[in-house]
Amino acid sequence: MSSTQSNREKYIYSNLKHYYPRPLELKSGLGSYVKDIKGNTYLDFIGGIVTISIGHNHPRVKRKIISLLEENQIQHTSTLYASEHVGKAAKKLVSLAGLEGYQVYFSNSGSEANEIAVLTAREATKRQLVVSLRHGYHGGTNATLNLCGHSSWKFPHQPSSNVSHIEAPYCYRCPYDKKPDSCSIPCADDLDRLIETCTAGEVAAVIVEPVMGVGGFIDGPKKYYQRIYEIIKDNGGLYISDEVQTGVGRLGENFLGASDFGISPDIVTMAKGLGNGVPVGATIASSNLIKNLNGKTHFSTFGGDPFQMAQVYEVLCEIEDQSLMNNAKVMGGELKSHIMGLKAKYPYIGDVRGRGLLLGFELIKGDKSPDSDKCNDLLELCLGEGLLIGKGGLRGNVIRLAPPLNISANELEEFKLKLSRSLEKLNLL
Ligand SMILES: Cc1ncc(COP(=O)(O)O)c(C=O)c1O
Repeated sequence: MSSTQSNREKYIYSNLKHYYPRPLELKSGLGSYVKDIKGNTYLDFIGGIVTISIGHNHPRVKRKIISLLEENQIQHTSTLYASEHVGKAAKKLVSLAGLEGYQVYFSNSGSEANEIAVLTAREATKRQLVVSLRHGYHGGTNATLNLCGHSSWKFPHQPSSNVSHIEAPYCYRCPYDKKPDSCSIPCADDLDRLIETCTAGEVAAVIVEPVMGVGGFIDGPKKYYQRIYEIIKDNGGLYISDEVQTGVGRLGENFLGASDFGISPDIVTMAKGLGNGVPVGATIASSNLIKNLNGKTHFSTFGGDPFQMAQVYEVLCEIEDQSLMNNAKVMGGELKSHIMGLKAKYPYIGDVRGRGLLLGFELIKGDKSPDSDKCNDLLELCLGEGLLIGKGGLRGNVIRLAPPLNISANELEEFKLKLSRSLEKLNLL
């Protein structure tokens, strides 16, 4: 056993999981490729963990960070000091998100961004209950774990209060047995029923992911989200869009996934691809909501650190300057139709879903039940082909793909080849 592994086994929390039974130790990365400690190269089609939006070690980011180091620019300030990089990043973010009149709180992760969103919503509405979706995921801190809709993340002794869950728009496994074309979206009306039967009528907010990431890239119909928006507004609550995975243009059409539904959220949260891998979270809320926090102190030691902020700014500029959203749309469209073709060939590929470069497919048994073993086998076979992919879903049977937004046509072809070879081998198991 290597010293990395033995140190990990001895000193690191034992419930922290690895993707692979024989843990993969990555050492370097460039563009869409990463290398392990033995020098093996992998095409990274999960983009870190949906974090690498413009490729590993992007030259633009590298140049910027090196220049800051050479100038001995201050590396740490906390939110107590001013920094030009924070303002520049916030201005660019608000402008790309089309959220004029909104302000940003930079923190260190998606969980923190959502904590701040919930705090903002509760103080602004003077209400406590927050509603999230079954199969949803919003982070690993207390409030966000409570919001989580996955039993595997529910620790039995964590107190949970002031959260409720409604049905997700999981059309492939619809609990109402509806067909998408003729559906009246009873899953969205679940919010109305919840408010009517289980609350005092005072919901602070609903929090939703435009495509449900950890839940297995569940890509619900537009009318679901529009109905949720309508119901929460009718009841005086706020709409929080958790764009931790979907933000920065990953879905191809718009910078924010909520814009695909024509929805302007009250609060947006982002992280992951925002900093191309640096720990950064952002809560973006309209200033009239934020004023309700005035008079109380809130602080983040590392939130808005200059180097992180400079990186966020460069990442956002790169996405804008190189029209990477459009690349996500074009490449994602091609990738999705390729996987649809594979579905026709391999009966164990079930639902194919997602938008832009956030795409997934379920692996199923003959009776449509989730096949998590096949999912694990496919991950391992792809690894052998030099391809990293992700998995997710409540039952661990969904393959998740989220390569950098700037993947090239050649890289896409390489992915297709590697996936095809892996699927052929999967057939033989
Ligand atoms: C939609 C969503 N929200 C929040 C989080 C939490 O982000 P973090 O792990 O950075 O705390 C995640 C992480 O996977 C996520 O997918």
